[in-house]
Amino acid sequence: MAYDTLNLRPVSPHLGAEVRDLDITRPLTNRQVAELHTALGEFGVLFFRDQRFDFDSQKRFGRYFGELDIHPNTPGPEGHPEILPIHADANSKMIAGEKWHSDVSCRQEPPLGSILHLHTVPPSGGDTLFASLGAAYDALSPRMKTYLEALTAFHSGERNYRKRNRLEGVDDTGRVFPSANHPVVIRHPISGRRGLYVNRLFTYRINELPEEESDAVLRFLFEHSEKPDFQIRFQWQPHSVAFWDNRAVQHLAIWDYFPQVRSGSRVTVKGGRLAA
Ligand code: SIN
Repeated sequence: MAYDTLNLRPVSPHLGAEVRDLDITRPLTNRQVAELHTALGEFGVLFFRDQRFDFDSQKRFGRYFGELDIHPNTPGPEGHPEILPIHADANSKMIAGEKWHSDVSCRQEPPLGSILHLHTVPPSGGDTLFASLGAAYDALSPRMKTYLEALTAFHSGERNYRKRNRLEGVDDTGRVFPSANHPVVIRHPISGRRGLYVNRLFTYRINELPEEESDAVLRFLFEHSEKPDFQIRFQWQPHSVAFWDNRAVQHLAIWDYFPQVRSGSRVTVKGGRLAA
């Protein structure tokens, strides 16, 4: 794909590109936004360096791509409910994204994308891994692809959000967390590419299979989709930004830096229902 306004450096043959020489903290032109949208479709995740976002400029950037989501478990700080703080330090009991996942896949309409800005990073470690859902699907055998085609899976936020609240001493009695059924193989809403849409954090069950079979098939699919062949690893610097498409990649945050501080904020762009 040719781009007029973007200087892109692909990270791997499967996914990821660094966007150079673009200040995304300032208002963008329609052409720049359209090309970023196209690049997100082509690469699945875009990386930017030296972007000093405050909450308002981060939200403005997110809104170029759609309405912003408010996280179902963790609404943001006063005046900024769409901001999801991402923070870990010596007092943390867990971090966000410690298991492979697509953000909030438990929603009926899972988010289009997420934009994470880290202003503080540990001296080393704290990388994020991204894996291509399309590459994972493509690598399956034709027979397995046919087998998975008509299946749907149940995704729920219960286990993840309740665990987090328990560890952080938050009383969530009576709260109901989102759950949804999605096709196991989705068609990307923009590129039309097929992707394997199950993840270890939110996917509990393949609906059309007995429990034991569902457990076995999911175990295989999780291990398959998490293979290094489909992955890239992003090393953060202060004020790096990652913008990923949750219908094209899943991701994993590595907590190898305890008790150091890693801190920033995420905005999440709403998506729509997923089609098989
Ligand atoms: C997340 O899942 O949004 C967190 C990713 C990260 O902290 O690298």
